[in-house]
Amino acid sequence: MARVLGSFLLLVVVSSVAMATDPSPLQDFCVADPSGQVLVNGFACKNPSLVQADDFYFGGLRMRGNTSNPVGSKVSPVFVDQLPGLNTLGIAMARVDYEPWGLNPPHFHPRATELFTVLEGTLEVGFVTSNPENRFITKVLQKGDVFVFPMRLVHFQRNIGNTKALAVSTLSSQNPGIVTIANAVFGSKPAISTDILAKAFQTGNDVIENLQLKF
Ligand code: GLV
Ligand code: MN
Repeated sequence: MARVLGSFLLLVVVSSVAMATDPSPLQDFCVADPSGQVLVNGFACKNPSLVQADDFYFGGLRMRGNTSNPVGSKVSPVFVDQLPGLNTLGIAMARVDYEPWGLNPPHFHPRATELFTVLEGTLEVGFVTSNPENRFITKVLQKGDVFVFPMRLVHFQRNIGNTKALAVSTLSSQNPGIVTIANAVFGSKPAISTDILAKAFQTGNDVIENLQLKF
């Protein structure tokens, strides 16, 4: 009996570790109350009797994102910060616009897997597996195609057409987060010492200083 109980407890512990993602809700909804004074994992709930339809609504994706930037792409997030009704629900989305040959540069989501759907255009996408293999998995996607970027892996998309492209992503967290590699490494505040990056990237301080100026 003790052994059965022990195995059961082990299973509970292992499965709770293996299912490390946004926790399941314990109520119908918990609309985020960003002004709440209580600090919890997520946002505190707005009083349910004060909740309105607009708490579950976001009308901000009708327009193209502004892609006038050096990479020629724009991610317009619909995370819990934009849509308070997402709080505790473990899901979010984003619209991604691309100029011809625009790039959504290498980045990862610290808390989410991403399911990516092309609505317009032709996109080259890819992700890299963890050490030591660092295998690069890449594919060209057409309108209507779907691709998954597994949780926390570095990935990118590039428009390889001469027309604008459009995609939507669904992400498995209300607050997926985005870490853009170049910004995190060369644009941190305060900056990581140039000599640390020069050694890490096996290059000269001048190359690193140049990159730090850009980010
Ligand atoms: C957004 O993060 C995306 O990769 O499309
Ligand atoms: Mn992404």
